[in-house]
Amino acid sequence: MSRDELKVVVTRRLPDEILARIREAASVQLWDSDDPIPYDTLVEWIANCDGLYCLLTERIDAGLLDVGSKLKVISQMAVGYDNIDIAACTTKRIPVGNTPGVLDETTADLALALMLASARRIVEGADFVKAGKWGAWRPMEMVGRDLYGSTVGIIGLGRIGKAVARRLNGFGCKLLYFQRSSDPKDVEFGASYVDLPTLLRESDFVTLHCPLNAETRGLIDKAALRQMKPTAILINTARGPIVDQEALYWALTDGVIAGAGLDVTTPEPLPKDHPLLSLANVVVVPHIGSATIATRMRMATLAVENLLAGIYGERLPFCVNPEVYES
Ligand code: GLV
Repeated sequence: MSRDELKVVVTRRLPDEILARIREAASVQLWDSDDPIPYDTLVEWIANCDGLYCLLTERIDAGLLDVGSKLKVISQMAVGYDNIDIAACTTKRIPVGNTPGVLDETTADLALALMLASARRIVEGADFVKAGKWGAWRPMEMVGRDLYGSTVGIIGLGRIGKAVARRLNGFGCKLLYFQRSSDPKDVEFGASYVDLPTLLRESDFVTLHCPLNAETRGLIDKAALRQMKPTAILINTARGPIVDQEALYWALTDGVIAGAGLDVTTPEPLPKDHPLLSLANVVVVPHIGSATIATRMRMATLAVENLLAGIYGERLPFCVNPEVYES
């Protein structure tokens, strides 16, 4: 098929060089904005479209796929894909692409940054200085907790979890991990496999690196938080709904746990007046786990490669539902 016959929808403003690559291959209908495309507009645009390049802010459900009956590929510029009804895509034999591998180290860096920021009260300290409250050096002012030598519980020892473990080995941490893998190893990347209650009970930091799915939604609820140490810090760079946020607010205000560092929340964006943002023991950043220039460009490029393979009828380099290729 020629360039003019192939049509793709791109749901957000992208760097020029990325868009240029897509435009060489197909005619592009671009949602030329930094804000998400409204669902109804996407439904309107998707009819007669061969490919969709989307972000994790879009809801890709069965209704949308019914309208997009010509779709040959959905390429998401993210590693997570909980916003996409994968089962419906597979039923319709639409391959879905994601961007694994290129953001692990960058996301692991952010998890460590949140651990340190929360434990060492970095944001609170910076606000303290800006507010003109910095007085003479006091022995117990702005004291926090050590990451060095602490016990860290990693929930989900996948690519990102392993990158976190490698970093924490350098901090002299004792590492525990839990995941629902059918065959967990006793020790991996210096982390010992334990059950979830043991991880929650023994960890000074609990850090989430599992995907959001039916099993992990609400995994960190009131009961889980109750099992954690009152000195513990929860870190979430995975997906907001893995944590029951109301329970987290209760735990942080009742002294059930000591603090939290969150890159992901429910909803996103978190409204300015959300109760969590009133707490000094919470650091919230705006879903920036993969947000370095180099990593975002690698993700955008991988997503283009998936998109182009899909519209040309080739196998996607990174496909989350390879069953679509089985005859
Ligand atoms: C970001 O959260 C991603 O899934 O890539």
